[in-house]
Amino acid sequence: MENILEKVKARSEIPVYEKSIENVLSSILTSEDFWKIVDLSEEPLPLVSDIIRVLEEEGIVSIDEGIKLTEKGNKLVKEYGIGKREESICECCEGRGVSLKNYQDILEKFKEIVKNRPMPKHEYDQGFVTAECTISRIALMNSRGDLFNKDVLVLGDDDLTSIALMLSKLPKKIVVVDIDDRLISFIKDVAKQLNYENIEVITLDLRKPLPDKYSKAFDTFITDPPETVYAIKTFIGRGISALKGERRAGYFGITRRESSLDKWREIQRTLINEFNVVITDIIRNFNHYVNWGYEEETRAWDLSPIKKKPEDIWYKSYMFRIETLKDSRGFEEEVEIGDELYNDAESSTT
Ligand SMILES: [Fe+2]
Repeated sequence: MENILEKVKARSEIPVYEKSIENVLSSILTSEDFWKIVDLSEEPLPLVSDIIRVLEEEGIVSIDEGIKLTEKGNKLVKEYGIGKREESICECCEGRGVSLKNYQDILEKFKEIVKNRPMPKHEYDQGFVTAECTISRIALMNSRGDLFNKDVLVLGDDDLTSIALMLSKLPKKIVVVDIDDRLISFIKDVAKQLNYENIEVITLDLRKPLPDKYSKAFDTFITDPPETVYAIKTFIGRGISALKGERRAGYFGITRRESSLDKWREIQRTLINEFNVVITDIIRNFNHYVNWGYEEETRAWDLSPIKKKPEDIWYKSYMFRIETLKDSRGFEEEVEIGDELYNDAESSTT
């Protein structure tokens, strides 16, 4: 095991531990599909790829149609007492912990409307979640007292959460900010069809600060930043600056697919030390992303040992809820960054 660990360390820029290798081996015992192994192991995709390559070199796995343990591999897992990864996810809520019983009507309407949505664009790191997931966000935010009669800011909306918000008729006002004109005009058209007036939709690159009038103007924000510490700082920091003050809430997704726990700790440090907010909820794999169609253009595809498109949803993210307290602060400066906003060593879908 030490030998494997050393070899992975030499290959990878991502922090690796014995536990990372155990997670991958354990997932290989459950599935031979690369995407499922990434999903189950909860290690960053580029690291999973490096670990599998080393395991292959060491004769522990074989790679052809699928990724399987060899005889030597089977001996190794027995020796180290590594068992199969068994997920036990609630069938009712898919593990989100919120019921959609009172939201069926909105769910059906939402599904109908988004049939004509603009498809994800690679250049903006877009990808959208399932309709059940979007409506669960409404149920979650409402259950925490963050929607009814509240001013809500949506920072980046490829998931079309703003449309679900309009259908819920819960917020007092909705403001949507996105870089993509196609999404902006789609949301505007839907607002017109629904005769919904309390919505403002603006085009903006979030590298730039929000217009002054949105400073300290909201009760709740939701965003889904790219997975770099920069992007998280920028998107979430802007969201916090836009909140009216203390005891207001922010929601965002953070994944394990593109972030090691070391990066998670960095993110949590930023939240706690820089922004001075409190994390109230972290819901595992709340967000399920529909496979976005441009897989072959991604680094994940290059890193995948088997060139087979994912059949099931594998890209999931945890839902974070933060709340502001006395002396919480956001981030309002303009940032001069290019590609690093979207990419670091752990990212693979941009
Ligand atoms: Fe459940």
